[in-house]
Amino acid sequence: MRLSDSKVELISRGNKVVYQDGERVVKVFNTEKPAADVFNEALNIARVNGSGVRSCEVLEVSRVEEGDHKGSWAIANRYIPGTTLRQLMDDDKANEDKYLAMFVDLQTEIHEAEAPLLNRQKDKLARMIGSCKQIDPTTRYDLQMRVDGMHSGTSICHGDFVPSNVIVCDEDDQLYLVDWAHVTAGIAEVDAATTYLLLKRRDDDLAERYLDLYSTKTDTPKQLIHYWLPVVAAAELARGRKENEEFLLSWINVGDYE
Ligand SMILES: Nc1ncnc2c1ncn2[C@@H]1O[C@H](COP(=O)(O)OP(=O)(O)O)[C@@H](O)[C@H]1O
Ligand SMILES: [Mg+2]
Repeated sequence: MRLSDSKVELISRGNKVVYQDGERVVKVFNTEKPAADVFNEALNIARVNGSGVRSCEVLEVSRVEEGDHKGSWAIANRYIPGTTLRQLMDDDKANEDKYLAMFVDLQTEIHEAEAPLLNRQKDKLARMIGSCKQIDPTTRYDLQMRVDGMHSGTSICHGDFVPSNVIVCDEDDQLYLVDWAHVTAGIAEVDAATTYLLLKRRDDDLAERYLDLYSTKTDTPKQLIHYWLPVVAAAELARGRKENEEFLLSWINVGDYE
C-alpha cells in the first residue's frame, strides 16, 4: 500500500506506528514483526466482523511500497470518527464513572457474542506461558497446571480490552472496538482479569472500580477473576515488553499455588 503525505501519526510504539490517512487508519509494523502475526490480526478482525460485534473493518493488508516504511507490513482499517474512552475519561474526569459503566457494558456484550473460528484462549495461554523462560520452571509448571484445568469457553475475549481501544463514534454515538491482535474464544473472567491487570498498571483506583462494577454487573465473584491474575500476568510477560517486567512479576510470584 501507499501512504499519503497528509497522513497524521496517532501513536508510535516499540514495534509499530499508527497513522490516520484520510479515511483509513494504517498500522505499520517494524520489519521484525512476523507476517503471520500481521495476517492473524487482520483475520481476527474479519472473524469478529462476522459475529456482529461493532469493530473496525480491514480494508487492506500489504507491504508499504515506498517512503520511510518501505517493505514493512501494514494493516489499513476504515477510520472510525470519534473519541476513545481513554481520552474521554482523561478530559472529563467528572463523568469517569459513566464511561466506566459504558466500558463494562460493552465488554459484557462482547463476551456474550461468539466467533467459533477464533484462536482458543486456553491454547494461547499455554503457549505463551510455556515460552516465558523468565519465570522459573516450578512456578511455570504451576501456572501451566492452572491453564490445563481451564474449560474452553466460547466467549469473544478481546485480550486487550482497555479504554484506549474503545471509540465512541461521532456519527452514531455507538461504541466500536479496535486493536484485535490478542482476541480469542474463551472464558469471560480471564478476559476481565486481563483488563483489571492492564488498568492496574496505570491507575490503581480505576482498576478497583472496574473490578467492583464488572463483578456486580455480571454476578461474578471477584475470587474467580483473581484466580486468573497470575496466569494472565505470565502471558503478558511473555510479550517481552521490558517496561512492565517488574509489575507483572509481582503478580506472578504470589506463591500460593496448590
Ligand atoms: N479504525 C480506527 N479508527 C479510528 N481510530 C483508530 C482506529 N484504529 C486505531 N485507532 C486509534 O489508534 C490508536 C492505536 O491503534 P491500536 O490498534 O490500538 O494500536 P496499538 O496496538 O498500538 O494499541 C487507538 O488507541 C485509537 O485511538
Ligand atoms: Mg490499542
